[in-house]
Amino acid sequence: MIIDLRSLTLAALALAAPALSQPPAKGDAAAGDEAFQIHCAICHLAESGGQGPSLIGVFGRKAGSAPGFAYSPALAVANVTWDAAHLDRYLENPQAAIPGAAMPYALADAKTRADVIAYLGTLK
Ligand code: HEC
Repeated sequence: MIIDLRSLTLAALALAAPALSQPPAKGDAAAGDEAFQIHCAICHLAESGGQGPSLIGVFGRKAGSAPGFAYSPALAVANVTWDAAHLDRYLENPQAAIPGAAMPYALADAKTRADVIAYLGTLK
């Protein structure tokens, strides 16, 4: 039997191509922990919050609903339940994701966002 290596290679490339054009599906929580300390901890002490609300249990929580934090009106009425997709959009550009949102910070890098989101998933 003659195996056509060229068409095998093309088939392999065709299979790999969609994966290469996608952002990483799952972030690395350990790298996300480090990135969180650099980018987020100054406002979001994981335990108690600070200048920003506590992010303990943020996955599955309704936006703007951590007790005791004075949210912007925009976040308080936003009809969003935090999951990975919503967090990704919000962290990329809070004001575009939720117009009027008051968080003065954004994470442009998709890989860092995926890592930080994986880390947020560990905060329970
Ligand atoms: C300069 C301070 C500051 C930094 C830095 C910051 N945040 Fe925030 N964050 C806030 C404030 C203030 C709010 C509340 C916004 C509002 O009320 O509209 C907020 C809200 C949030 C919310 C919504 C929480 C909820 O209860 O609905 C998430 C999620 C969040 N921040 C994640 C992050 C992550 C992850 C980082 C790091 C990449 C980060 N923030 C960096 C100040 C900050």
